[in-house]
Amino acid sequence: MLNWTRYQERTYGIHNKYEKVKLTPEFHHACAKVMDHVIKNNMEFEPRPLMPHDYAETILNNAERFNYKLKDKKVVGWLNDSKYLRSMSLPIRILYDRDLPEDLVKDTKSALEKQENVYRHATYFNIIKMEPGDQIMLHYDPKSVYLPAWPIGNELPGQGTEYIDMRAFVYMNDRQPGQVSWLGKSDIDYKAYDMFKFEVDKVYHGTANFGYDDRYMISFSWAEPLG
Ligand SMILES: [Fe+2]
Repeated sequence: MLNWTRYQERTYGIHNKYEKVKLTPEFHHACAKVMDHVIKNNMEFEPRPLMPHDYAETILNNAERFNYKLKDKKVVGWLNDSKYLRSMSLPIRILYDRDLPEDLVKDTKSALEKQENVYRHATYFNIIKMEPGDQIMLHYDPKSVYLPAWPIGNELPGQGTEYIDMRAFVYMNDRQPGQVSWLGKSDIDYKAYDMFKFEVDKVYHGTANFGYDDRYMISFSWAEPLG
């Protein structure tokens, strides 16, 4: 049996509420263009920096920026949990949408916005490269903590608006032996251009690459109106 942290069990339980979504031809094409750009230009992926140990305090001290939905004590308890800190400090390599040409980013977001129920411009994405040995431990993402990562000028839901923090992974390679992606209660099987979406704070997720090939995925995040 998996070792769930007490906090996670108590707060959310263990859900399996992810959804496999078929990409529209336009969104499929947009994702392919992003990947093509990255490979053709031989873009460098930075290893993700270590999570700072004052992460939770930083969020609490900037509450108006972060707009998180949980009570202070819960946020600190969660983000200072040694397992969460470790999860967020293991090696993965990331390219952010700000590193890509403006038009390419605009077209990609627009294709996603046409397919999904996205607040206008309330979206960002990054490309994750996992080399052999890279992994992210199973975790939830705290609701709304990542909003400040959205580029300045994006139109966010108004103050007091209820919304859902969505995340979706689009896999850019067929699955190879030794490449594991966990969503909810079990690992999933996938092929290139499969997309799985879920609420960031509801579905336990993690991934590891102990195969011999690099693996790429594009991670989309957005705010979706409630109901
Ligand atoms: Fe995550």
